[in-house]
Amino acid sequence: MRKILLQLDTDSLPSSFDAITALDAGADVLLPYGNVTPENAVGLVHGAIFTRAPDQLHHTAIFIGGSDVAAAEAVAQAVTKAFFGPMRVSVVLDPNGSNTTAAAAVLAVVRHVARPGPVLVLGGTGPVGSRAVRLLARQGYAVRVGSRLLERAQRVVEAVLLQVPEAELQPVELSGAEALAKAVSEVRAVLAAGAAGVQLLPQPVWQAAPVELLVDLNAVPPAGIQGVQATDKATVREGKICYGAVGVGGTKMQIHRRAIARAFEQNDLVLDAEQIYELGEQLGQSGS
Ligand SMILES: NC(=O)c1ccc[n+]([C@@H]2O[C@H](COP(=O)([O-])OP(=O)(O)OC[C@H]3O[C@@H](n4cnc5c(N)ncnc54)[C@H](OP(=O)(O)O)[C@@H]3O)[C@@H](O)[C@H]2O)c1
Repeated sequence: MRKILLQLDTDSLPSSFDAITALDAGADVLLPYGNVTPENAVGLVHGAIFTRAPDQLHHTAIFIGGSDVAAAEAVAQAVTKAFFGPMRVSVVLDPNGSNTTAAAAVLAVVRHVARPGPVLVLGGTGPVGSRAVRLLARQGYAVRVGSRLLERAQRVVEAVLLQVPEAELQPVELSGAEALAKAVSEVRAVLAAGAAGVQLLPQPVWQAAPVELLVDLNAVPPAGIQGVQATDKATVREGKICYGAVGVGGTKMQIHRRAIARAFEQNDLVLDAEQIYELGEQLGQSGS
């Protein structure tokens, strides 16, 4: 029986990246839908769960994506609410690549930095950064959430605390060179999840700090962390272990493909940030 993936995207044009990755991950047929909302998703879910017998439903799965993470989360809620009893299919949630990218970045931190860190997340308010904050907190790291605006960082702290009440989180306003230097000097790792093409951390700042690990997710020049190359993967520069966007991206792609494949193994999974992170851990353990 063919593996069919419904690609529900909140953007008008469903992501070609997500489509290609799904096919590479083993989906036989892709059904892409754009402009998906919590309202129109329900009919699509019914189409998915009423067409095959319950014991065949693991051959159908749903991927939820889109550039607006909050909108995708609302669709995910509507999708899972539309399931009942055995009439369900597995769901992968990865809007904007946020879960798979954050999982790969956090795995790099876990590989090199002892808990509780602390870890500073630059651009900690974006889709990738805020997911990284949540995953780091779940892994027992103290996290400093960096933003140009304290209120934005505070909002992420409050949202993550709702899901990880024991988390040790601190919002940090990085409004000038002095604040940035102080924040970097107080942590063991910096994870830069700022917007594409924006440099957040100049090299002299990290070079002068006792920070051990630098992870930069921005692939568009200039680098988010000056001096870190996109292809760095545990590359040592000036005594710091460095990862660049391409270095992390290989792991991200592996995790993304594994999540799609996993969704076709049973019909009752909901793969959000934490479950996707676990798949990444398992990939590491299997040596892949
Ligand atoms: N390597 C991979 O596999 C992979 C996959 C997906 C994404 N990415 C990359 O991961 C990074 C994060 O993605 P995202 O979608 O979460 O990013 P985003 O939403 O575009 O930006 C993240 C944060 O960066 C800060 N920011 C935006 N413009 C800025 C500016 N001009 N100066 C300083 N700070 C600025 C903002 O925080 P404040 O306003 O709070 O300061 C924003 O919340 C991007 O570089 C993206 O390209 C990499």
